[in-house]
Amino acid sequence: MKLFLDTANIEWIRRLNRMGVVDGVTTNPTLVAKEPGEFEDIVSEICREVAGDVSAEVVATTHDDMVAEAKRLASLAPNVVVKMPITPEGLRATRTVSSKGIRVNVTLIFSANQGLLAAKAGASFVSPFIGRLDDIGHRGMEVVEDLVRIRDNYGLKAEVLVGSIRHPQHVLDAARIGADISTMPPEVMMKMMEHPLTDSGLKRFLDDWEKAKKAKPQILR
Ligand code: E4P
Repeated sequence: MKLFLDTANIEWIRRLNRMGVVDGVTTNPTLVAKEPGEFEDIVSEICREVAGDVSAEVVATTHDDMVAEAKRLASLAPNVVVKMPITPEGLRATRTVSSKGIRVNVTLIFSANQGLLAAKAGASFVSPFIGRLDDIGHRGMEVVEDLVRIRDNYGLKAEVLVGSIRHPQHVLDAARIGADISTMPPEVMMKMMEHPLTDSGLKRFLDDWEKAKKAKPQILR
């Protein structure tokens, strides 16, 4: 499964990308609004840093404006993927731009039927938001299960990109189900690395080594 960062913060992206674990980045208007600078400059900088796909979302809501914005975003870098919301206008714009070779990530998906429609409209990625479903008492991962099954049943080309991830267990569940991508806040990726037994284990190794160096200095030539 590919791992994406769900942030527009370039410092976090650089830090985790250096570890070789970032396959791509997703942004949305809320995430971009938190960062200093112009939208297009932020997207371009992320695209220079990360070799994989970088999703940037349109803020227009009508077909013609969405298409114009999508073309502009796609011209920023070859790894830009344009994010469109799952609305009637968004689906129509997805069809228009995907048939021109622009890759689209259809976002704000809360049901498998929405995802199916997005895939039919030509989306390269469909993004179910699982944490927001969990927040209102639904089981977000069920939508992922359904979408993965539908993808496999019909050999759909659209990749299932699991968004609105809140904790490492979501990533693990998505991987078990066979989702193509999980996108997560940097803090969740950090938590995936951490384990208290790793910390205590490393401390013991280093303490034992220090003791050994004192007891038998020849251990290090
Ligand atoms: C995905 O592409 C979205 O940017 C994101 O995962 C939304 O998550 P949130 O519910 O944490 O805002």
